[in-house]
Amino acid sequence: MQDMKEIIERINNLKMELNAVILAHNYQRPEVQDIADFTGDSLGLSQQVVNSDADVIVFCGVDFMAESAAILSPEKTVLLPEKDAGCPMAEMVDVISLDDEKKKHPDAAVVCYVNSSALIKAQSDICCTSANAIDVVNSLEEDEVIFVPDKNLGNYVAGFTDKKIYAWNGFCPTHHQMRAHDVIKAKEEHPDALFLAHPECRTEVLELADEVLSTTAILKYAKKSEAKEFIIGTENGLLHRLRKENPEKKFYYVSEFTICTNMKITTLESVLDALENMQYVITVPEDIRLKAKKALDRMLAVKRTM
Ligand code: 13P
Ligand code: SF4
Repeated sequence: MQDMKEIIERINNLKMELNAVILAHNYQRPEVQDIADFTGDSLGLSQQVVNSDADVIVFCGVDFMAESAAILSPEKTVLLPEKDAGCPMAEMVDVISLDDEKKKHPDAAVVCYVNSSALIKAQSDICCTSANAIDVVNSLEEDEVIFVPDKNLGNYVAGFTDKKIYAWNGFCPTHHQMRAHDVIKAKEEHPDALFLAHPECRTEVLELADEVLSTTAILKYAKKSEAKEFIIGTENGLLHRLRKENPEKKFYYVSEFTICTNMKITTLESVLDALENMQYVITVPEDIRLKAKKALDRMLAVKRTM
């Protein structure tokens, strides 16, 4: 085992040598978030990729995030430190089934949550993240929308639009396992706390929420709010930043089981290996990349409101 201080020093030296930037999603391990140049939600990280002048991007997250970075900035070398860091929800939609659904609803636009493969993005009209899904759907001319792959986010958006939403039957296992009774129990234990939930949660959980927000929007809300206690309905990795940025406030998770193991595979050692060995380089075939980029660019043109 190498000394933690030594690993951090080597990462920082390599970062300078290679003109690299480290991006980390809000669900990453605390020590990985702490070494990152930028920690954020899927939308914030995509914007960071576009605006960065680094040659190398080390993406501490899951594969669809690194793929989005490679789609948006093919001139940069995008590294995913752990090649097995995938997203089970992204696997729940495939090209053939989506094509069948498009045939059933020929007038519908396809909105795809960024938690999807490059191939699915290439088949979609526009992407969205949890931070802009309602704005994206309402920005469309079409009256019907096929929303893939997250049924919980799709059903949530349906409550804020006049458009007909055909929500795909996918879900995030980490958020979907959270149940109303878990939230009720947490509320009984912390009666003064506000409950902030991520829209990947089931409807029964969202109905109990004071606010439904993306991970970065939860961070912003908790900072601004006058409340002193919060129950957080998302992957527990977010509590690291919440506690660090608000030492005077209290944050509780709904359940100790709200963990995305894919997000936790990446360690400081894997970040160091990524920089030392330039691994694992993520690329997308050019024909797919160009189509997927259209859907991502269209999303990035929709103004962020939360
Ligand atoms: P956001 O940070 O975009 O809300 O992402 C949630 C998520 O589950 C990413 O995998
Ligand atoms: Fe996928 Fe859910 Fe993990 Fe995000 S938290 S990477 S949506 S499984």
